[in-house]
Amino acid sequence: MTDLYKFIRSLPKAELHLHIEGTMEPELIFLLAERNGIELKYNSVEALRNAYHFDDLQDFLDFYYEAGSVLLREQDFYDLTWAYLLKAKENNIVHTEVMFDPQTHTSRGVPFSAVIGGIYRALADGYEQLGISFRLILSFLRHLSEEDGFKTLAEAAPFQGWITAVGLDSSERNFPPDLFANLFDKAQEMGFLTVVHAGEEGPPENIWAALDLLKASRIDHGNSALEDPDLVDVLGIYEIPLTSCPLSNLRLKVIQKMEDHPLKEMMDRGIKVTVNSDDPAYFGGYLNDNFIAVADALQLSKEEIVQLVKNSFEASFISDGEKRTFLKKVEEAAGI
Ligand code: ADE
Ligand code: ZN
Repeated sequence: MTDLYKFIRSLPKAELHLHIEGTMEPELIFLLAERNGIELKYNSVEALRNAYHFDDLQDFLDFYYEAGSVLLREQDFYDLTWAYLLKAKENNIVHTEVMFDPQTHTSRGVPFSAVIGGIYRALADGYEQLGISFRLILSFLRHLSEEDGFKTLAEAAPFQGWITAVGLDSSERNFPPDLFANLFDKAQEMGFLTVVHAGEEGPPENIWAALDLLKASRIDHGNSALEDPDLVDVLGIYEIPLTSCPLSNLRLKVIQKMEDHPLKEMMDRGIKVTVNSDDPAYFGGYLNDNFIAVADALQLSKEEIVQLVKNSFEASFISDGEKRTFLKKVEEAAGI
């Protein structure tokens, strides 16, 4: 283990951009397929893993939704979430804000209650047994209609106490935030915070719309923000965090090489940027791997790494008191 790896591992961390369906390792896909009597296109774990080469976001999403079809019962969602929590523990993640895509499952006839029930039960057990605190974010799929989103929001209403925020993910091209303004208005009226995937493959205009129309508290990815100096100013002045996902960006060809990642420039230009793993089972690494990859490529100092870790707690949806407690623990671990 290199010094840098040891240092990154030693810091207690928060993760703010993580799709629970994106943590399903090929081994678990096969296990659940067998348990549920579902035929897969691939005949071995290796064959599936070897197929993970993506041309762009859509190419990845096609795999991701297909794999999601092995999740049928409450216990499946529990097992998926528990497996992630064990990885989170290994990565010294002490707080996680998990996104889930209910429409991927309810569209196949899986009850909303089975999806959220399994995920929430595992997160509650993770808090008890592993000491990992959590928030839950319901993400709407933007390739589906706003009407479908409204149906999903109604299904979520009885579970509102379990859900902190709503999000918007899936294909960014052709599905700008503007299409979901009414849905997000309604979600906010109900008391949900909002986050939005924007500027991953799309232009800065999508980030503006996420802020102006969908009132996003955080922007997921936000890579294209640097193209617009006014937007950089607004993100800095209003302290709107970006949840960046370096390995995801590399694997989905948002960047061509890690050295091109905008994270350091975002920091230098006053944006509160955070490091996250997005869909770690598909992109070659969990949170520590994302830190290592970007720290190596951009030659980040230990101080910069500590700042990124602190940013995640500051940008999280926990209370100010909880933030202070975690930030103190980071400083203690970092020896500052
Ligand atoms: N769903 C899962 N991962 C995603 C990503 N990187 N962008 C948009 N939607 C997603
Ligand atoms: Zn994402």
